[in-house]
Amino acid sequence: MPAVARYAHLGRLYDLVSGERLYAPGREAAVEMIHVEPGSRVLVVGIGTGPDLPALLSAAGPGGRVVGLDASPSMLAAARRRADRLGGDGVRLVLADAEQVPARRLRDALGGPADAVLLPYCLSLMPAWPRAWRTALEAARPGARVAVVDTTVARGALLRRLASRVACAAGGVHVDARPWRCVEELDDVSAATFLRGHVEVRGGTLPLR
Ligand SMILES: C[S@@+](CC[C@H](N)C(=O)[O-])C[C@H]1O[C@@H](n2cnc3c(N)ncnc32)[C@H](O)[C@@H]1O
Repeated sequence: MPAVARYAHLGRLYDLVSGERLYAPGREAAVEMIHVEPGSRVLVVGIGTGPDLPALLSAAGPGGRVVGLDASPSMLAAARRRADRLGGDGVRLVLADAEQVPARRLRDALGGPADAVLLPYCLSLMPAWPRAWRTALEAARPGARVAVVDTTVARGALLRRLASRVACAAGGVHVDARPWRCVEELDDVSAATFLRGHVEVRGGTLPLR
């Protein structure tokens, strides 16, 4: 089943079944790596139900703008409900396929190029993820911070490897994608690993040219 179809109607259920307790540390590390400041324009690719919104809105402040992109209307509806609860006037949600959307549309929604880009638990679901990655970078300014957090099969004991493989399969993850490796080509790279390599996080800076 294509990832977009898998998440098409999951908006109301997702937060109950996503195992957030396991995935929150990776998410928090990625948010920290993008150095959001007051007034920042932040792009979140595959925003889902918006679990990163509290941290991003609190860092970007009332003058900031957070644009969340997702291909699932029901996930975006949940993100909208969360943004409304948080009083997030600076949140714009874009319904589009990250592999197809033009960078110009994202810049327009942001009101300019992004200062920070977050790609949380989403690229490894996309068959053409390098295209989504390039578009996200195109929507950002030189010197922007970018972070990917994503999953693959853990290292170590058989049971751990099996459990992480089942979790990846349930989420529609292509375990060989390992999209965080792209970040390693940027400047000032930081890295974190959780759950014996099941969750990998990389942050970096777009070159200043
Ligand atoms: C595993 S969920 C993660 C959601 C959220 N980032 C989080 O950390 O909880 C993956 C999200 O990526 C979205 N997605 C998958 N393929 C996509 C695509 N091609 N374009 C945009 N969004 C996509 C899904 O709709 C879903 O909301």
